[in-house]
Amino acid sequence: MEREQWSSTPGFILASIGSAVGIGNIWRFPYIVGENGGGAFLVPYLITVFLFGLPLMVLELAIGRSTGNSVVSAFRSIQQRFAAAGLFIVAVVSLILGYYIVIAGWVLAYAFFFTLGRPVEFGAFTGSYLPLIFFLLSGLAVYVTVRSGVREGIERLSQYLIPALFAILLFLVVFSLTEPGAAEGIEFYLSPDFSRLADPGVWIAAFGQAFFSLSVGMGIMIAFGSYLGKGPLFRNATIIAVADILVAVLAGLAIFPLVFTAGLDPAAGVNLAFITLPAAFMEIQYGMLLGALFFVMLFAAALTSAVSMLEVPVATLMDSYGYPRKRATLLVFAAILLLGLPPALSYTALNLEVFGMPFLDLADYAFGTIGLIVAGLIVSVVGGWFMSRTRICTEIGGCEWQQRAYMALIRYAVPAVLVITLIGSLFLVAG
Ligand code: PHE
Repeated sequence: MEREQWSSTPGFILASIGSAVGIGNIWRFPYIVGENGGGAFLVPYLITVFLFGLPLMVLELAIGRSTGNSVVSAFRSIQQRFAAAGLFIVAVVSLILGYYIVIAGWVLAYAFFFTLGRPVEFGAFTGSYLPLIFFLLSGLAVYVTVRSGVREGIERLSQYLIPALFAILLFLVVFSLTEPGAAEGIEFYLSPDFSRLADPGVWIAAFGQAFFSLSVGMGIMIAFGSYLGKGPLFRNATIIAVADILVAVLAGLAIFPLVFTAGLDPAAGVNLAFITLPAAFMEIQYGMLLGALFFVMLFAAALTSAVSMLEVPVATLMDSYGYPRKRATLLVFAAILLLGLPPALSYTALNLEVFGMPFLDLADYAFGTIGLIVAGLIVSVVGGWFMSRTRICTEIGGCEWQQRAYMALIRYAVPAVLVITLIGSLFLVAG
């Protein structure tokens, strides 16, 4: 069967923005900024995105387009022995997807109950059986989309949801900035503390957040690149990265003014999106409507990201094992439901914990942080060192000094930064 292709370059770009823009942008980025030096955090963050994240994205797209295959088969065609490394990456994405769908389920539930005008309280919600139902529902949405194919499913979904997401976000930002707590919120969020840049922990946080947010190192962009026709990779990747940054920065502008208007303290992590922010919506005027819009937007972001993750194992079954798409999707969907069950149960009445940590938090650390960095390292080494130079040059439009500088970044700088991030995440953050 002939390989599916994106219907157009904008279609591909929207789908990739859909992948990059996710829960990480809207809820994780703002509090990481708030905790790590405010506006000053943007310095290491932007450096990482453009100098290290972007080259990795272009490399992934180049691997995908030049081999015309998803990660496992692509790696195998570079060298037989790398197929196993490809499988490792597929496993990591699948494991991330398991808990990502759990969080997407929470978001869907919040969207649903805010729309009804009857928001739930986090403790009561997670103590009930509802998270399991919404986990299943958001999983089904991911499944149905990927089953419909690259063009009819993934591309079409983002074509509707990404513009809607931007519209809602802009509306929320404008609303927030006219609230009484705007100045205080922005002060907390962005006022730069440059002394924090001397702290290696701030840099590690920036590295980790940048790679996670761009969805690089996961084989997703390899799959997306394999559906891509001609066109300049570098320019397209830049558009994707800029959109990703924009959503992240704007999300903070929407969130913190509301939190301060409601007179609340900004919280970190899960609590910000699921406890503090809902409490703020209960306080302020039009809160129900704003809350509904916010969680619908967050669900759109989560769904389009989850879809791109599911495409990786599905494309692997299709490319390496010859499964038709529908059967591959069903099989992987069943597996993901099983993988998602422990994290789904970890915040329920069952309270599933490992090493005294909710299983979901453990999964986010083991797969979403450590696993992702190792996967990125593998991609940069296999692609940067073992794919032929001429092949990469063909993909990135020449072998002039610009491209050679680029290659140097991919071969030396990107792996170095990933190793530093790995060590930092193992010791600094954990310890
Ligand atoms: N980039 C997505 C986000 O910011 C998450 C993601 C990570 C998606 C890894 C795919 C792969 O939420």
